[in-house]
Amino acid sequence: MAAPLRASRQRRTIDEVPFWYHSIDLGGGLVTPGFKSPESMQAHLSALQLPDLADKTVLDVGAWDGFYAFEAERRGARRVVALDAYEWAGTPPGWEGRREQLPPKWLGFEVAHDLLGSSVECVVADFTTTDPADLGRFDVVIFSGVLYHLQDPLGALRRLARVAREVALVETAAIHAGVLEDRALCEFYEGGELNGDPTNWWAPNGTALAAMCRAAGFGRVELLDYPPAAPTPQYRLVAHAFA
Ligand SMILES: C[S@@+](CC[C@H](N)C(=O)[O-])C[C@H]1O[C@@H](n2cnc3c(N)ncnc32)[C@H](O)[C@@H]1O
Repeated sequence: MAAPLRASRQRRTIDEVPFWYHSIDLGGGLVTPGFKSPESMQAHLSALQLPDLADKTVLDVGAWDGFYAFEAERRGARRVVALDAYEWAGTPPGWEGRREQLPPKWLGFEVAHDLLGSSVECVVADFTTTDPADLGRFDVVIFSGVLYHLQDPLGALRRLARVAREVALVETAAIHAGVLEDRALCEFYEGGELNGDPTNWWAPNGTALAAMCRAAGFGRVELLDYPPAAPTPQYRLVAHAFA
């Protein structure tokens, strides 16, 4: 097929996806029209401070459209598994009692996977109920934007500790508790208090995030860019939790 025709077919396929969360560069000038702009994805990526992934095995939990999984593959990871509960069969995690607000079916991962010719493996599963032994262990686990969506964050971190052989990269909404910041505190959201999103349940402060990772079984935790230079009550925080 002639290149311009192929490009226009690919563009149509991309446009047929009802909602893209990630802006993913698919090459040849094609970028998915993500809710998160290319610039914000680059900012998130650099905040995560990915370790050298060459020849590593990587699990991306809550991969959604797969930006981080594809990035890991691009950086030379030997095996990448993207896990999400995106192919909603019943009530997805976090949406109990809120079905009427469900987003459209999320297909972006499959389209990007195809157009990239990717070998990333896909697991459709709820991380909070999947047996970690079934997933196996991975050198690096990416856990970005998921923790605060879970009703039992400590339980999820325990699962994470079981699947992370070297390090887990935990990125989360966080609170800064001001003069109480040295106490391990989490804020609870009954409804949509955090960003109007009723699937958000908890946000830890830095002290709590580090303590929870240790309590979950990680040996050492580094909080990146912490404490924040200009503390705001809510911000994004990244922890590297080492096995
Ligand atoms: C805010 S998005 C973050 C997407 C991506 N990791 C990022 O950082 O850009 C949260 C993702 O986590 C997924 N997720 C939430 N709870 C989950 C669970 N229990 N098991 C698997 N995936 C889950 C959602 O489906 C969604 O794709």
